[in-house]
Amino acid sequence: MHHFSTALVALLAGTASAVVQDWQQCGGTNWKGETQCSSTAGCVVINDYYSQCQPGAAPQPPATPEQPPAVSSVLPGTPVATGVPAGTGPGKTLQSGYYWVRAVAAPNFHKYVQSKPLYATGPAILGDYTTAGQFQIVDSQLVQLVSAPSEPAKLLYGIVSETRMINNLSLPVSWAETKNTYGKFAWNGDGLTWTVAGVSRPNAAAWYVCSGQQMYINLGNYLYGTPAGCADQTIHYYNDKTANNK
Ligand SMILES: *[C@@H]1O[C@H](CO)[C@@H](O)[C@H](O)[C@H]1NC(C)=O
Repeated sequence: MHHFSTALVALLAGTASAVVQDWQQCGGTNWKGETQCSSTAGCVVINDYYSQCQPGAAPQPPATPEQPPAVSSVLPGTPVATGVPAGTGPGKTLQSGYYWVRAVAAPNFHKYVQSKPLYATGPAILGDYTTAGQFQIVDSQLVQLVSAPSEPAKLLYGIVSETRMINNLSLPVSWAETKNTYGKFAWNGDGLTWTVAGVSRPNAAAWYVCSGQQMYINLGNYLYGTPAGCADQTIHYYNDKTANNK
């Protein structure tokens, strides 16, 4: 008995992991964090890139994305799935017609919009200026240039989830090869706004940046009722030749 319980304690200690708080991320492609929601919440799949602990949801396993085969197990000559279609990226000089897009206030002062992984489908995040993406708005689509200047243009589109998340007031934004079908992006001055028919927002330029630097449309108030783990931000274009954090 003694040996059994010692082993059990060791096993539990070895596998113990923090419980993910309500409304926080518990899974999705590239998610490397904790996956266990509290006993009163379930891990709900929102999209390929994002699962979230929602109070009252039936417990369900987090999305376990298919991993590309380990290189060692692949026979020579077999194409290796890369998982996501990544572009080479447009480089560190702003391309004609495009903008850097960044936050201008703490805690994300001069953090720049980009995709995670870089230049690939996945969540929209705010990250370092050295990996800033390049964007424009075309026909109400937020378009990211992910190809090198020497290559044929490859674009990704900013996609707004219709599923309300954190505090039922936020819509995660991700990058896809297909166009966004929910709402419209527009510049208001240099501020990035999003609106959709049927949803009245106190501030069309209000964003949340939450755990993992994930960007969300904030359907609620700016700087009021901010969910734990999130920061209120407005997001602005910047068109100097290079991005910087000054
Ligand atoms: C979330 O907000 C929508 C729109 O206001 C509302 O219809 C829905 O009932 C809310 N859901 C929850 C769980 O509060």
